[in-house]
Amino acid sequence: MRLYDDLAGWWPLLSPVEDYADEAAALADLLTGAGIGAGARLLELGSGGGHLAHHWQDRYRLTLVDRAEPMLTLSRALNPRARHLAGDMRTVRLGERFDAVVIGDAIAHMGTDADLAAALATAAEHCLEGGAVLFCPDQVAETFVPSASTGGTDAADGRGIRYLEWLYPMVEGGGVRMEMAYLLRTGEGGVSVVHDRSVLGLFSTAEWQAAILRAGFADMRARTVSGRTVFLARR
Ligand SMILES: C[S@@+](CC[C@H](N)C(=O)[O-])C[C@H]1O[C@@H](n2cnc3c(N)ncnc32)[C@H](O)[C@@H]1O
Repeated sequence: MRLYDDLAGWWPLLSPVEDYADEAAALADLLTGAGIGAGARLLELGSGGGHLAHHWQDRYRLTLVDRAEPMLTLSRALNPRARHLAGDMRTVRLGERFDAVVIGDAIAHMGTDADLAAALATAAEHCLEGGAVLFCPDQVAETFVPSASTGGTDAADGRGIRYLEWLYPMVEGGGVRMEMAYLLRTGEGGVSVVHDRSVLGLFSTAEWQAAILRAGFADMRARTVSGRTVFLARR
C-alpha cells in the first residue's frame, strides 16, 4: 500500500500513537497472564510505525520487524531503544528465539491461507519453547460487516489528513477489499486526494484456531480485546 511507502509520513496523523495505549495495556495484561513479564524479549512482526510498540518500550526488550523501510524509519524515531529490522513476516528468519512473538493489526495483510500459515510458521520459528504468541486480527469472519469509517488528525505545522476507509467482501477468493481515500493538506494549504487499496485476509475463529494448532502451538485461547478477537497461544 502507498500508506506504508511514499505516504508513510502521514501514518502518525492517520493513526496517532496515543490511540494505541489502551490496546497495548490490554495485550500486555494477556501476556502477563501467559507468564511474559517485564524485561521479556518480545518480537513484533509487522510493527509498522511502532505505535503499539511505543507503549511497550519500558516494559519489554523489543525487536521490531516490518517489510516497509519508510515505516521502520518512523518507528526508529519513535522507539530509539528498540532493535529494528527489515523483513517479511512470511519468510524472515533471524536465527534467534524470543519469550513472546506478537503480530498485531499487520496480520490483516495475510490475505490467503498460505500467507497466514507462513506468518504463523515464522512466529513459531522465533518463539522459545514455553513462550507465548499473540495474534491480533482486526476482523474475524463471523462478526465482519462491510463498513465505511472516517478519521484523521492535524499536525502543529499545518499539515492534516482526513480519510475514508471502506471495507467490503471480495467477490472472488475470499478476504476483504480495503479502499482508502485520503485528503492530504500540506502546510502551505494545498490539498490533494489519493486513492489507496489493499486486500486483507478474513478468517473465521475456527480457521484461526486450526491454523494456530497446525503451526505447532498449544494452549490456544481466543480473547476479546477492545471488541476484537485476539488469539493467545503457547509454543
Ligand atoms: C497497519 S500497519 C501496522 C501499524 C502498527 N501496528 C503500528 O503500531 O504502527 C501494517 C504494517 O504491516 C506491514 N506489513 C504488511 N505485510 C507485511 C509482511 N508480509 N511482512 C512484514 N510486514 C508487513 C506494513 O508494511 C505495515 O507497516
